[in-house]
Amino acid sequence: MLKAVRGTRDLLPPDTELWNRVEAKVRNLFARYNYHEIRTPLFEDTQLFSRSVGEETDIVTKEMFTWEDRARAQSEKAQSLTLRPENTAGVVRAYIEHGLYKTGTLHKLYYIGPQFRRERPQKGRYRQFYQIGAEIIGPPSAGSESPARDAEVLEMLASLLDEVGLRDCQLQLNSVGCAEDRARYNQALREALKPVVLQMCPDCQRRAETNPLRVLDCKVPEDQPIIEQLPKIGAFLDEPCREHFAAVRAMLDAAGVPYSINERMVRGLDYYTRTTFEFTHGGLGAQSAVLGGGRYDGLSESLEGPNAPGIGFAIGEDRLILALQSQNEQPKETVQAYVAPLGAGMNVHALKLARELRRAGISADLGDELFRLKKSFELAEKAGAQYIVIVGENETACDRFAVKNLGSGEQVDVPRAGLAAYLGRHRDPNS
Ligand code: HAM
Repeated sequence: MLKAVRGTRDLLPPDTELWNRVEAKVRNLFARYNYHEIRTPLFEDTQLFSRSVGEETDIVTKEMFTWEDRARAQSEKAQSLTLRPENTAGVVRAYIEHGLYKTGTLHKLYYIGPQFRRERPQKGRYRQFYQIGAEIIGPPSAGSESPARDAEVLEMLASLLDEVGLRDCQLQLNSVGCAEDRARYNQALREALKPVVLQMCPDCQRRAETNPLRVLDCKVPEDQPIIEQLPKIGAFLDEPCREHFAAVRAMLDAAGVPYSINERMVRGLDYYTRTTFEFTHGGLGAQSAVLGGGRYDGLSESLEGPNAPGIGFAIGEDRLILALQSQNEQPKETVQAYVAPLGAGMNVHALKLARELRRAGISADLGDELFRLKKSFELAEKAGAQYIVIVGENETACDRFAVKNLGSGEQVDVPRAGLAAYLGRHRDPNS
């Protein structure tokens, strides 16, 4: 039997109800914060990711789905292509390619869609997973560099998690400084690693040479005591970076957004500068990061774009849904009405009635005249219907329908003209 590929999965009803509910709430929130949707391609030139996410990162060295796209015509060039492992690089590429910077304003862009990483699959970690993300990017003259952006994004995230109903999240915050701070920190790491690096895993031995910061991403248990002893980035921030971080924290304090400082959190992508953050949730086990993000002030320039500082985040939607489910948010399949034709020739009348109800905004399933009444009731209950509407010969003749509330057992006769209003009274608050 053919099965879904390892690390990919089908999302089925009723789970998809929860996904849609979360996405609807998030879109509503983005609109209130004046974000607009961007959709970029699912695959891009491989170089986009190696140049932005970073050559030495786990994502680029081990996890990308990359292939050589052979030229089919003389006019086409063969090209290395990659399924997007994340979406910040694609958004910044689009920002540059379409000259969005020319408006001189901030662009607040959000996206919802699949990303691809060849990681070892486990609960909360998939090879195709979904992110809900956003980026604020623009020229410094529009305020893109201001700590107010960082605080605004973090406040929005706290509200977002609250509005979708996720409780007990922890915001972990850090600053990884600017490019110069990082250069000094990398130098300090290199020195500190010299005497111990041979005791570390082969990946760390390589990273210690090429990009020592990435040693901090190592997951090998034996390496952790060494990593614990390494210098921390906080001591290497210059004065402007220190002030920027203090301003972000002061605004969060004033807005009442709780956080804790985690100086070990440097994030697994190279483009970050200054503020970095993650929100974690206890119900997720080993993959506890529901979302991650940070500032990336030099990314646009590194992709040959203008000076356009930015900050953004991506929520792992799979993990957000898992965390909600760990709080017992089990979606149910429901439909407002089950329209049950009763007796030969009743299908035509039932279809007409179902059409009227659906056009009036009522969700409805339609049975079949071949079903006996008992079977119609069974199917209505299985479908999660709130009401069953019987369409028999008498009902059709006098244009009044027997309606039974399957929850309470109450049964009434409702005239056709009032039927949609009657069924709509008990709309499921979650739908
Ligand atoms: P990231 O930390 O690599 O950041 O991913 C963000 C979130 O995506 C993670 O916190 C996690 O919830 C989810 N995620 C990552 N990998 C997987 C996976 N294999 N399976 C399930 N969920 C996963 C980024 O992607 C940055 N682009 C975020 C950002 C936007 N930074 C600035 N702007």
